[in-house]
This record gives sequence, C-alpha cells and structure tokens, in this order.
Amino acid sequence: MKRLEGRVALVTGAGSGIGRATAHAFAAEGAYVYVTDVDGAAAEAVAADIVKAGSSARALTADVSRGQDVTAMFRTVQATHGKLDVLANNAGLNVRGDFRHLSDADWVKIREVNLDGVVRVARDGFSLLQASGRGSLINVASIMAHRGLRQLTAYSATKGAVTALTRGLAVEYAPFGIRVNALCPGFVETALTERVLRMPALQKALVDSTALRRLGQPEEIANAALFLASDEASYVTGAELAVDGGMGAML
Ligand SMILES: NC(=O)c1ccc[n+]([C@@H]2O[C@H](COP(=O)([O-])OP(=O)(O)OC[C@H]3O[C@@H](n4cnc5c(N)ncnc54)[C@H](O)[C@@H]3O)[C@@H](O)[C@H]2O)c1
Repeated sequence: MKRLEGRVALVTGAGSGIGRATAHAFAAEGAYVYVTDVDGAAAEAVAADIVKAGSSARALTADVSRGQDVTAMFRTVQATHGKLDVLANNAGLNVRGDFRHLSDADWVKIREVNLDGVVRVARDGFSLLQASGRGSLINVASIMAHRGLRQLTAYSATKGAVTALTRGLAVEYAPFGIRVNALCPGFVETALTERVLRMPALQKALVDSTALRRLGQPEEIANAALFLASDEASYVTGAELAVDGGMGAML
C-alpha cells in the first residue's frame, strides 16, 4: 500500500525546486496532486511529468499573494474532490540585499509571498483540510528562521513568522483533525539559491557550516514533507523539522 493512496494533495510553488520534488514524491506515493504555481507553464510541465510517470496530477496557475487566485484555486479543489488531505504551503522567494537599504517595495514583495501568502493559504484551505478528517498542513519555513546571514534578514523575518504561525495553527486546528508542521530546510540547490551558490567563497562557507559538508537536494526535503504528510507522522503537530545537513547543530 502506498503511503498517500487515495489522498488529495496540493503544493504551492510546485513548478520548481523543493515544491516540484514534493509534488513528485506525493504523487509517487499514490496521492492526486494539485501542482500550483504563479508560473503556469512550469506547473503544467510538472503535472505532465507526473502523469507521464503513471500518477495523477492537475496544474493550476495561482499567485499566493493574490486573494482571488487562492480563492479560485481552492474552489477548483472543492468542486473536484471536496477535500484536501495534504496542503504544502511552499511558495516562497527572496530579494537579497543589505537590510539598511531595503526598499518598502522589496519588503512588501518578500512579505506578500513568504508570509501573507502562507497565512492566506493556511486560512482559506482550512475547510478542505477539515473535510479530510486527517489533514496535514506543511509550512515550508527555513533554517533562516533561526539564523542570521548578511543580506537575508528580511527573508529570515518572514520565515521566523511562519514558524510562529505554525505553532499557533497546530493548537487551533488540532480539534479539527488537522496537523500543522513547519519544515526548515538548510541550503538546497534550487533556482532560489542558484545565484548565491555560484559564488565559490559563499558556497564554501555554507558547506563548511554544514555538518554533512554538502548542500541539500530538493528530493531530500521532499522526503521529509512526505513523512509529515503521511500517517507515519500521526502524532506530530506543532513541530519544526530541520532538514539541513546539521547546519543548525553546528557551532
Ligand atoms: N532552496 C533553499 O535553500 C531553501 C532553504 C530553505 C527554505 N526554502 C524555501 O523552500 C520553498 C521553495 O523554495 P525553492 O528553493 O524550491 O525555490 P524555487 O525558486 O526553486 O521555487 C519556488 C517556486 O515558487 C514559485 N512562486 C514564487 N512566488 C510565487 C507566488 N507568489 N505564488 C505561487 N508560486 C510562487 C516560483 O514560481 C517557483 O516555482 C520556499 O518557501 C523557500 O523559501 C528554500
């Protein structure tokens, strides 16, 4: 029996990186996966790959920073399946820069996706998760919720807020049969980190700060999301699962 057989899952930001790997992992374990992204073509490509591999998926274009997009996204799920067993709140972005020069526009851009989008999806997805009877909400935060690194301060602030949100939601949603957990990846090779990881000195510093002495791969984060999504995590809620190669454990 596959671990998510008969389940319905939705992943935001699933057109690339960690979200794409998570959508593939859920589908391979038997879930019907809504592959959603602001980049509709990327979402279509991922859904097509999943279907080609013999699993079930549907692409939806949705910008989590736009209320009407999120409403339409959940309306489609409601009309088609009437429930969500797994909701991975993964869409995120960063605008690097020294905090003292952070423009209002850049702060709003980061916050609107990384925090406001996560809040909106967690709130508006509630009734579909409740209809599951065993819903799992996974908020993708970051090791940066607990660490400082130059030019990542605004990003860190949004991720710290996501971990606080997760603890509150775990308490509020538990009576409705919904588990809520945060996933805190370390540095993972995706489009998000591509520019940073092209700087050899910075890449070396990050690897040197990681106990396992390497960067992470999207599939390694997806495996942790799969655990949180599945019944194997039936007693896990309000947790922050670090998947960071031991970066958080290093001095
Ligand atoms: N890569 C890392 O090292 C790392 C580490 C910790 C946390 N994270 C978090 O993991 C999540 C996924 O990041 P990734 O590294 O896979 O990045 P990525 O850039 O490869 O993928 C992010 C996806 O989100 C989509 N997206 C961006 N804005 C969106 C919006 N407004 N609405 C819907 N979709 C949107 C993008 O189109 C893209 O497909 C993010 O929340 C990120 O903060 C990543």
